[in-house]
Amino acid sequence: MSQAAGAHTRLDVMNFLNEISARFPAAISFASGRPAQQFIHLQQWMGAGARFVDYFADEKRMPEEQAYHLLGQYGNTNGIINGLIARQVRHDHGIACLAGEVLVTAGGQEAIDLCVRQLCSEPGDVLLARTPTYIGATGVADLHGIEIAGFRCDDEADMADALAAAVARLEQHGKRPRALYLVPDFDNPSASVLSYATRMQLIAYCAAQGIVVLEDNPYGMFRYEGETIPPMYALDSHGCVVFLGTYSKTICPALRVGFAIVPERMLQGQVCGKQVMAQLSQAKSFSTLNTSQVSQAIVGGILLDQQCSLRASIEPAVAYYRGNRDTMLACLDSAFKEWPQQITWNVPQGGFFLVLKLPFDFGAEEADICARQFGVIVMPLSFFALAPGHERHVRLAFSNVGEEAIAEGVKRFAAFVRQRLQGQ
Ligand SMILES: Cc1ncc(COP(=O)(O)O)c(C=O)c1O
Repeated sequence: MSQAAGAHTRLDVMNFLNEISARFPAAISFASGRPAQQFIHLQQWMGAGARFVDYFADEKRMPEEQAYHLLGQYGNTNGIINGLIARQVRHDHGIACLAGEVLVTAGGQEAIDLCVRQLCSEPGDVLLARTPTYIGATGVADLHGIEIAGFRCDDEADMADALAAAVARLEQHGKRPRALYLVPDFDNPSASVLSYATRMQLIAYCAAQGIVVLEDNPYGMFRYEGETIPPMYALDSHGCVVFLGTYSKTICPALRVGFAIVPERMLQGQVCGKQVMAQLSQAKSFSTLNTSQVSQAIVGGILLDQQCSLRASIEPAVAYYRGNRDTMLACLDSAFKEWPQQITWNVPQGGFFLVLKLPFDFGAEEADICARQFGVIVMPLSFFALAPGHERHVRLAFSNVGEEAIAEGVKRFAAFVRQRLQGQ
């Protein structure tokens, strides 16, 4: 795999991850941002579906038996829990939207897929993204032959300028930047958070340019300290932000339930959001037909049980992840104290990841050596990169490893680093 991954090599990243985990099952993995197992109460949640059926039968004014029949069939393409999702995002994210602006999808991944394909559907349409970025978004573009323009900005305060420079370059070549993919809260992979000022600058710029922001937000509710910054969707008065959400981290990934919120009045009314929604819905009807109604019933039941806010139910998970982050930071401090200038890392205020910088390149070969010889799996940041410049960084996920495994895994990783530095 090359350092700044090109189109086909980016598509290989998922395989690389699965393969390396399968080849070294005993290795401690800091590779994937899975939620921790102990917060997945599937047995208990299976019962939540029945609660939703009561509600659904009431809503549709039909007997319960008929509601079950309806749920067991092919369903409405846009979903059946749209109103409950609209209430949850109002409570948990301060987002005001109508049920009709919500499209229920098979995980956040389908929401990304549909939106990227819909917004960048003409030749010359380009997807903008900050480098490095989530491979699930760039992978969609790669698969469908959509050009991605990555722009780099090391200082977040310069982001609007870096974006404007990327747009100017594209326009010089007759290309149309149509959408900007972003994870403003606890980004995957960088863990960064966009400030209020940057969010406002990006919204103003994108609204003026007719660029739709795809705001992907799987980690926003996992804040460990500091003040919450409203989602860009909630700050946008122009209708230039589409919000992409998921229940994979707040409930569980197996349900495969996510959503897109598409404002009815898009880009100050220049674009009809209802029409965009209809096109997304049509595309969905030819890919997954509809999101599993059984999964939606479970999510719906949980939302009803929780009065449409997941804040309280995820509190234990937030505390656990905060503890894991602290453990990882303490272990890094102690493992790398000899090299305070050469080896550095960020302190994420939330999310599932942190990024560490080494004094040497770390790519696929080094990841393989770490797994094979040292029993620890980490992700080179270059796998997520759209341009050179992140060859010395690695992403460490701390969500799905216990404290002891974190301590041992960091020790193993430090043994690799020590060997490499002493061999230099
Ligand atoms: C930034 C980001 N977006 C989207 C997803 C997709 O999540 P799902 O399809 O499980 O909802 C993930 C998964 O880890 C992610 O990290």
